[in-house]
Formats: sequence, C-alpha cells, structure tokens
Amino acid sequence: MSNPHPWAADLGLLHDHIWSRLIRGVHDRHAPTRHPTLATVSANGMPQARTVVLRDADKQAATLTLYTDLHSAKVTELRANLLAELHVWDPSAHLQIRLAAEVTILEGAEVAERWQRLPEHSRSAYSSGLAPGKPIADSLAYAKTPDQTAFGVLRLDIQTIDALHLGPDHRRAGFSRADHWEGQWRVP
Ligand SMILES: Cc1cc2nc3c(=O)[nH]c(=O)nc-3n(C[C@H](O)[C@H](O)[C@H](O)COP(=O)(O)O)c2cc1C
Repeated sequence: MSNPHPWAADLGLLHDHIWSRLIRGVHDRHAPTRHPTLATVSANGMPQARTVVLRDADKQAATLTLYTDLHSAKVTELRANLLAELHVWDPSAHLQIRLAAEVTILEGAEVAERWQRLPEHSRSAYSSGLAPGKPIADSLAYAKTPDQTAFGVLRLDIQTIDALHLGPDHRRAGFSRADHWEGQWRVP
C-alpha cells in the first residue's frame, strides 16, 4: 500500500505539516490540535497532564500560546519548573506530535490587550475566589467572577518536536531548535 500522506516521508515537509496542523487548531475549533494536552511536573515530581485550548501558533518563532487562570496548579508548577510538554494526536493525519517547551508566564499589563479581546462569556474562566482544584462542599458550591488579574498567558518556546506518523510504514522524526529544525529520522 502506498503512503497516503507523502508529506510524512520528507523531513522538511513533515515539519511544515506539523506547523500547518498546529495553526489550524488555532482557527478551527473542530481540529484535534485545538485541544492539546499540556504536561507539567508537580513539586514532588509527579507528571500532571490536562487539556488546554491552543490560542496561537507561530512557526517562525516556534512558539505556541495558551491561556490559563493564574491561580491554577499548573501555574504554580511552572513557576517552579518552566519545562513542559504539549501532546496532540491528530487522527486524520495519523500523526502524534509531542512538543517540549520552555514556558514564560505573562500576566498583568503584558496581557491586558488579550483580555480586552476576550469575549465576555470566556472571561469567567479566569476568576477571583477559590482557586481551581480547591475542595468544595457540593458540586456547584463555587462562583466564577471574571477577574483580569487572574488571566495568564503561557508562551511556549518550543525546544524540540517529536513526530510519529502511523502509515503502511511507520515513521518517526525529531526536530530541535538547536539544529534549526533540520530534523532527524528515528526508529518509531
Ligand atoms: C476541552 C477543554 C479545554 C480546556 N482549556 C483550558 C485552557 O485553555 N486553559 C486552562 O487553563 N484550562 C483548560 N481546561 C481545563 C484544564 O484541563 C484543567 O482542568 C484546569 O486548567 C485545571 O488544571 P490544573 O489544576 O492542572 O492547573 C480545559 C479543559 C477542557 C476539557
């Protein structure tokens, strides 16, 4: 059987394709890259993974952008350890993408413009009051009051990308900022 995804057999095309899938996730709410999994490491070394929304993807700078509540555990974890991994399984492309990143937490005046652009109904995800994850007496015993000071932007400076393509032949490649994203085939 021939490879249904010719881009998967060329390092340059594969790298381009990874970024075009990521960029699609920013604009298409149905794209699998819309909802990657962000993994951080807790203070006791426990991996922590959760779904997030991809807000921006810049191939030139190799950066991705996420939004979060600054009171959330992931932010505490990132303040202690700025290393994170983002994971996507894109079934129609038969492609797993793993991106290792250094994270910068942006807040306050740096994110005021983005806050202004957020639709009113989205703002309650960033709130004053009890922090996400706090125990409560009943399932709905919480209030979400939008609070700009709780709004944080995570800028992920991608350091490495590991791509796994499943086809008639499986292919795996690694890319790194250090070698200008040239790429290296790997055993899948
Ligand atoms: C579809 C979906 C999208 C989500 N998007 C975000 C997001 O963009 N940012 C975010 O901080 N949490 C998002 N969450 C919630 C996180 O998965 C997580 O529950 C929350 O951020 C608390 O995580 P933490 O306690 O590990 O910090 C999303 C959850 C789902 C199910």
